[in-house]
Amino acid sequence: MGIAGRVTAPLPLRLGFPGVAPPRSAAHPRKGGWGRKRNPPCAANSLHPSNNNPRARHHDPSLKVPGGDVDGMGVNGGAAKPSLAPTPQKRRRAPCDVEEEAWGLLRESVVRYCGSPVGTIAACDPNDACPLNYDQVFIRDFVPSGIAFLLKGEYDIVRNFILHTLQLQSWEKTMDCHSPGQGLMPASFKVRVIPLDDNGTTEEVLDPDFGEAAIGRVAPVDSGLWWIILLRAYGKCSGDMSFHERIDVQTGIKLILKLCLADGFDMFPTLLVTDGSCMIDRRMGIHGHPLEIQALFYSALLSARELLTPEDGSADLIRALNSRLMALSFHIREYYWLDKRKLNEIYRYKTEEYSYDAVNKFNIYPDQIPSWLVEWIPPKGGYFIGNLQPAHMDFRFFSLGNLWSIVSSLATTHQSHAILDLVEAKWSDLVAEMPMKICHPALEGQEWKFITGSDPKNTPWSYHNGGSWPTLLWQLTVACIKMDRPEIAARAVEVAERRISSDKWPEYYDTKRARFIGKQARLFQTWSIAGFLVAKLLLENPEKSRILWNNEDEEILNALSLMADASNSKRKRGRKVLKRTYIV
Ligand code: GLC
Repeated sequence: MGIAGRVTAPLPLRLGFPGVAPPRSAAHPRKGGWGRKRNPPCAANSLHPSNNNPRARHHDPSLKVPGGDVDGMGVNGGAAKPSLAPTPQKRRRAPCDVEEEAWGLLRESVVRYCGSPVGTIAACDPNDACPLNYDQVFIRDFVPSGIAFLLKGEYDIVRNFILHTLQLQSWEKTMDCHSPGQGLMPASFKVRVIPLDDNGTTEEVLDPDFGEAAIGRVAPVDSGLWWIILLRAYGKCSGDMSFHERIDVQTGIKLILKLCLADGFDMFPTLLVTDGSCMIDRRMGIHGHPLEIQALFYSALLSARELLTPEDGSADLIRALNSRLMALSFHIREYYWLDKRKLNEIYRYKTEEYSYDAVNKFNIYPDQIPSWLVEWIPPKGGYFIGNLQPAHMDFRFFSLGNLWSIVSSLATTHQSHAILDLVEAKWSDLVAEMPMKICHPALEGQEWKFITGSDPKNTPWSYHNGGSWPTLLWQLTVACIKMDRPEIAARAVEVAERRISSDKWPEYYDTKRARFIGKQARLFQTWSIAGFLVAKLLLENPEKSRILWNNEDEEILNALSLMADASNSKRKRGRKVLKRTYIV
């Protein structure tokens, strides 16, 4: 794990990009390990007591304090020891009780560092003797928590989170002598208390995990993208419009962009990633160009363009960003889109077309159309498929990628409505008894065996493999509000409200219709709690969801229609028109 080193300022200013950044060896005292910096010593007072602990109603007070390691090393999760005797739950709570409870739980999950709130712990279940890494602050999990606090007008925690994770970005990080790019953001971090002497003096240390301790050792590609999205939302909501102009924040944005926009072997504008590099952080057959990453990437690019301050050195970066935006939206809108008409087209595809004007560009064999899809695709509605590779379309429906395509305007207006039409048409599959399915359908039998590697956590209709995740409620809500169809989200919130609190805010649900609390689901999962709160707050105040969505860009729209025209006439007239290029 980490190697201790010291820095003297909690938020060292990094100057410039990237040439003027301090040499990595200078910032990181020992190379070849997962670097760690320490903040100056401060009182280990992070276990802040909560006066009103809703968990006390559910649990035996003698049980373990969540997040507070017995050896005194971890302080994540500021839950206090329950002080009341447990009272069995007898009645379903009225909606505002549920919200009140959720706020209590969310506040309890706050992690402090040197006395300041810096994030929220992933899960905070006092009955859980083995929290694995759920006692850490996950970047992606914090997003709904951060939004909930922003919507409540509590900006400090989000600002602190942004600045502290920014510090972690520049960590020296290697795995078996290999280092990922400098802009990588950690998947999670932990606040550790280090005893300094026998007199009880301690200091706190931020300890990031870039995937070196995560199951599968996968780098979290989505962390940096979410970071940019949250940064923009912070500015929009708090009104602190100069925060993103700080030189260290600008450098952070550029490092993320540089990593994402680096040239490689790719023919596609989509971001090429390994399996498990996003919310689905285990092997699930999503390596390649998964939709979720592409939607977040698009959203982060648009957001970064708004946030970058114009300066001499950034012209090339902005140019690269603009052309990537356009190519990416064309590629996804054109090749990932599926509805009944398109499926019929694929069903009749000719294969082995060697030419520049091929219709079946990726050489998809119609035989791979799964039988479930033929029945499932509704007459009205459509969606973006999960992934596209040569001779392979992953036809599964992934909720987060589709919802965020709406939010980010990666989908056209027509496609956005069609995705919501599909959610409505397939309500009993996608929402069922708990919103919302992470993907549909599940991998079963031999497919499950080969694709997941016989993963016992990802058995059919469980966890990432067709499980239902309440946190997705907030993304659904933002998407519905953007398309002026909030009633869909309101219906889903109502479904969740029936049981989420009495089920103790599970991480996920199992079975086709989400009837059971997930086999290994954590309880009091923070992003289930925060996701519910954000959905409620936004439905009460729909205008506020603007802090998250990106508007359709006129320039991209015009360029896309030119590209579509060119692509059509290319098919008709052969190769000649290829000469035209479109640079914004
Ligand atoms: C699981 C989820 C991941 C989440 C983490 C912490 O690993 O797959 O998306 O960030 O738990 O809640």
